[in-house]
Amino acid sequence: MRVFQIEGDWGMDHLKLAQRPEPQAGLGQVLVRMKASSLNFRDLVVPERGYGSFTGNLPLIPLSDGVGTVCAVGPGVQRVSVGDRVCPTFFQNWLGGEPDLERLTQSLGGPIDGTMAEIMCLSEHGVVKVPDYLTDAQAASLPCAGLTAWSALTTGNTIKAGDHVLVQGCGGVALFAVQFAKMFGAHVTVITSSAERAERVRALGADAVINYVAKPEWAKATREITGGRGYDLIFELGGEKTLPQSLRCIRPGGTVAMIGILSGTSMSTALGLIITRQVRLQGITVGCRDGFEAMVRAMEQHRIQPVVDRIFGFEELKEAMAYLKSGAQFGKVCIAH
Ligand SMILES: NC(=O)c1ccc[n+]([C@@H]2O[C@H](COP(=O)([O-])OP(=O)(O)OC[C@H]3O[C@@H](n4cnc5c(N)ncnc54)[C@H](OP(=O)(O)O)[C@@H]3O)[C@@H](O)[C@H]2O)c1
Repeated sequence: MRVFQIEGDWGMDHLKLAQRPEPQAGLGQVLVRMKASSLNFRDLVVPERGYGSFTGNLPLIPLSDGVGTVCAVGPGVQRVSVGDRVCPTFFQNWLGGEPDLERLTQSLGGPIDGTMAEIMCLSEHGVVKVPDYLTDAQAASLPCAGLTAWSALTTGNTIKAGDHVLVQGCGGVALFAVQFAKMFGAHVTVITSSAERAERVRALGADAVINYVAKPEWAKATREITGGRGYDLIFELGGEKTLPQSLRCIRPGGTVAMIGILSGTSMSTALGLIITRQVRLQGITVGCRDGFEAMVRAMEQHRIQPVVDRIFGFEELKEAMAYLKSGAQFGKVCIAH
């Protein structure tokens, strides 16, 4: 079968189209014929040097997000049947409960093989059925981008209708955050880089938008929006350059969901604000299967439509990655298999 894999050494030059033998489903395993994948910021980092704490083994099939149809089941499989449309879960071992080191190790697209294969062989416990109303590209966007936004809203700090939420940028996680926060009844502010993107995110439901290029001190501009109270929840996607601003506009007792590092990975900020405002910095790392299933139920109920920007062909993976890197996308960049 056809796969993309990083082979020989790390680096984008070593990402190649290749052939592998078709897998066989063993005890408790399912084969999934992949229909679509979608890209995350993470997928640009993995080929260059690994991601976070893993360096991983090569060859490695990249990408974490995808959807496909179950085409065979091994002995003992009960959760799904041939013909079901399913997404693989990002953390194959994190089914529910609190994260622990064992649950956070087996993530798709590094260190274990990801979705850029014709057929994936997965544990029956590592897949989630997805509703019919979603297109393949939309469904392929759920396992990492969608679930991360969902987890930020539901981990330890369930927000209430009328709460103020701030979202940074109009990337993949950010647009899910806007859609989900609106579904929860929140007032949503988005910071973005252009007037055109501001219009588009307003159309998606954002109540207030600030251009962070025109207003680099955007935290000040939010005072009027929250009536001076501050945000109940901030989706911290920028990291290094945005966190100091977030700490200026979070409400006392509010939560900064620490998700991304788009502007850098280090931190130099006034720690006093975290203490005196009793702010919670809540790290988010995607989420578990129970969360995925809860998210899908909520999405189906509210007919949430994930925003797909563009769909590339399977052989165009590198073009899709370059497009994602350009930052021109509004929503998810996907691959049709
Ligand atoms: N913790 C987790 O579990 C988890 C899961 C998924 C992703 N992430 C992380 O979350 C971040 C976003 O991932 P993604 O896949 O959604 O990325 P993405 O789709 O590539 O998002 C890129 C967008 O972010 C915005 N942006 C860039 N720099 C910014 C800045 N300094 N301030 C505000 N917005 C900025 C830009 O939108 P505008 O031009 O509209 O501003 C850009 O188009 C990444 O750091 C990724 O590693 C973490």
